[in-house]
Amino acid sequence: MFITFEGVEGSGKSTQAKLLAELLTKIGHKVTLTREPGWGQLGELIRKVILDERSLELDPFSELCLFCADRVQHVRDFIKPKLQAGEIVICDRYYDSTVVYQGNGRKLDKRLVNKMAKASTLELIPDITFLLNLPVRTGLTRLQSRGDITKMDEEPLEFHELIRQGYMLIAGREPNRIKKINADRDIVEIHNEIRSIAIESISLKSKS
Ligand code: TYD
Repeated sequence: MFITFEGVEGSGKSTQAKLLAELLTKIGHKVTLTREPGWGQLGELIRKVILDERSLELDPFSELCLFCADRVQHVRDFIKPKLQAGEIVICDRYYDSTVVYQGNGRKLDKRLVNKMAKASTLELIPDITFLLNLPVRTGLTRLQSRGDITKMDEEPLEFHELIRQGYMLIAGREPNRIKKINADRDIVEIHNEIRSIAIESISLKSKS
């Protein structure tokens, strides 16, 4: 079972991914929580290059290639082996982030972005994706109070609006996989909704 979390900056998806991982572990599943970008040796370098090096002006196409390279290694060397061992893998951001950030945000050719993003999954599509939906301003305000700001977070408001619109579009196209969750609520309320959807999907999958 492969579960991913998506959303705009400050939408609380990392908190929710962690809460779901803890809950599923508590009820007896073997769970691995991971995130993108930044898994493994190459991932750490790529993450630094894309998100932290403020002196480096990356071309959007280079950025796309780097996110995809990061994902290929992550899927091949970490996620797939865990799934094959029967674990539940929860990933904080995955290929939908590429589709939306590089396609809608950076305005690269959408067909090319979709193709590369899909190829970088090595045909591993999530069973379920939680899209935490929140007004962009609310998310950015939360981030500022947290203080942990990357290059991407510093993009103008319009960029983040494009990201949110992009997410809404893909959620509309794949309503079975992508579950829109109202993230403008109390953490526990959000968790309860995610928990019941996840548990139902896990039990459906185990029967199929
Ligand atoms: P990060 O600090 O990991 O945090 P968060 O997921 O909480 O925002 O930032 C990762 C950034 O990288 C985020 O701004 C989204 C962006 N990103 C892309 O642009 N494309 C991608 O394919 C992925 C995985 C992330």
